[in-house]
Amino acid sequence: MNLNSSFTNRLILLVLGAFTTAALHAQTSNQDKPCYKGMVVCAYPDAAQAGLSILKKGGNAIDAAVAVQFALAVTLPEAGNIGGGGFMVYRSAKGETNTLDFREKAPGKASADMYLDEAGNVIPDKSLYTHQAAGVPGSVDGMVEAHHKYGKLPWATLVQPAIELARNGFKVTRHLADDLNKSQADFKRLNPGKGYFLKDIPWQEGDLLVQEDLAKTLTLIRDKKRDGFYKGTVAGQLIAEMRTGNGLISQADLDKYHSVWRKPVIGKYKQYKVITMPPPSSGGIALLQLLHAVEKYPLSRWGHNRDSSVQLMVEAERRVYADRSKYLGDPDFYKVPADSLLRPTYMDARMQNFDWNTATPSSNIKPGSFAGYESDQTTHYSIVDRDGNAVSITTTLNGSFGCKIFVKGAGFLLNNEMDDFSAKPGTPNMFGLVGGKANSIQPGKRMLSSMTPTILEKDGKLFMVVGTPGGSTIITSVFQTILNVIEYGQDVQRAVASGRFHHQWLPDIVTAEIGALNNETRSILAKKGYIIKEGGTIGRVDAIVKAPQGYYMGGADPRGDDTKTGW
Ligand code: GLY
Repeated sequence: MNLNSSFTNRLILLVLGAFTTAALHAQTSNQDKPCYKGMVVCAYPDAAQAGLSILKKGGNAIDAAVAVQFALAVTLPEAGNIGGGGFMVYRSAKGETNTLDFREKAPGKASADMYLDEAGNVIPDKSLYTHQAAGVPGSVDGMVEAHHKYGKLPWATLVQPAIELARNGFKVTRHLADDLNKSQADFKRLNPGKGYFLKDIPWQEGDLLVQEDLAKTLTLIRDKKRDGFYKGTVAGQLIAEMRTGNGLISQADLDKYHSVWRKPVIGKYKQYKVITMPPPSSGGIALLQLLHAVEKYPLSRWGHNRDSSVQLMVEAERRVYADRSKYLGDPDFYKVPADSLLRPTYMDARMQNFDWNTATPSSNIKPGSFAGYESDQTTHYSIVDRDGNAVSITTTLNGSFGCKIFVKGAGFLLNNEMDDFSAKPGTPNMFGLVGGKANSIQPGKRMLSSMTPTILEKDGKLFMVVGTPGGSTIITSVFQTILNVIEYGQDVQRAVASGRFHHQWLPDIVTAEIGALNNETRSILAKKGYIIKEGGTIGRVDAIVKAPQGYYMGGADPRGDDTKTGW
């Protein structure tokens, strides 16, 4: 499982370079007042407004989530989507919890070695920028399913704001203009004759982006729900698109796609109940492992991002990501040993060889073992409504703009989620993550994710809604944000804005945002053997905390266009 230096560099670029640094640590200028009746925090201002308008019409948190999901598919084409998938964690005002898995699936014609050449080597970029990179999309089915079970307002009301944004256009932000400009050459190369998002002069902040084809697709979804996407015109366009590039998704795959309600993984951190996403996301199990590993240590006394805190968290992360590489995969295909991984004695034992004097080399850490066991671009939104229902959703196309291939005539981008499978044991994916049998490619299987939509309770009441994009850094960003609030007493806006760091076992480096670790901390850690690479930004956390007085405060990540709005 060697990671060469070009992979290390690629990881650093992907993980840290995903977003620009200009806004790092700045406070958002958007609404910063307590809201009693509900709140939406998401990655784009127009999508946040769409969600708030639904709450104000009497919609609940799920209704608002559906509106935000479709609005983000228009206004955040890097990650918001109808061509991708995601995960939802839900907690009703009465305390009922549930999760929805609308993760993409491998097409029926997918196979374990589909990204390998004749010599058994991974073919560069085949799982990233080809029609074969796309998994069967789950987002539309997921929204229909969530609305069917919990929604209150009519479906059409929830999709309509997105149709208007697509048809009438919306003003692009500086971030979106930059992202569109960076991908112009790829859009041209990968979409001959299509013209989507192409512009003769560079995109500028304030330009109007109109998406007529996408408006037509959304109208079909509004009128026919699931059938507007998985059957008829749009399905035909998707299959035709597959034919132009040897893609694998068939009508049978679309017919068979269904999202799945799964029991949340639930754990405790001190007096907090943590409700989070089970496999096929690794996020929930990993988050609970991390929280358990640090729980008995005096983090608040040591201080935020000080050397002892960082060292302990990095060593926990090293061990947890090693476990992820071996044991996490789609539970419908692989027996994930969740109980063993979450047993408190297991994590205690994993931390026993941690030495305060020196970094544990990742080469000395293997995935753990236990008796009886057989053997980036993403976006997050957090919503609460006036009754106290809460929803935490992370959704993705995987890479920025997915595989950058549009479905001709339908105006939406295909995901490149197949790269989240392990194409070959030990060979890293775009996030530098390695995997094995648990996450091998099989027809109809869901690829492992790191998405970690999470809700926390305190004393039986809603306390926090949190999540983030960021590929492999999702888990550690959610982990740090929770600790920032609980251990370091930061208000939720500061907690999401605070500098972050990350370790994922392999490569054996600590990536850190510039300024996240002060000189003294970096120097102490370096003397102990930690390799720290600084640059870029990590994650874009959007969170809500409920104050004991009953009002909500939002944390919108200043690293992007993230917006909090409420009433
Ligand atoms: N595509 C990133 C993830 O699911 O973790």
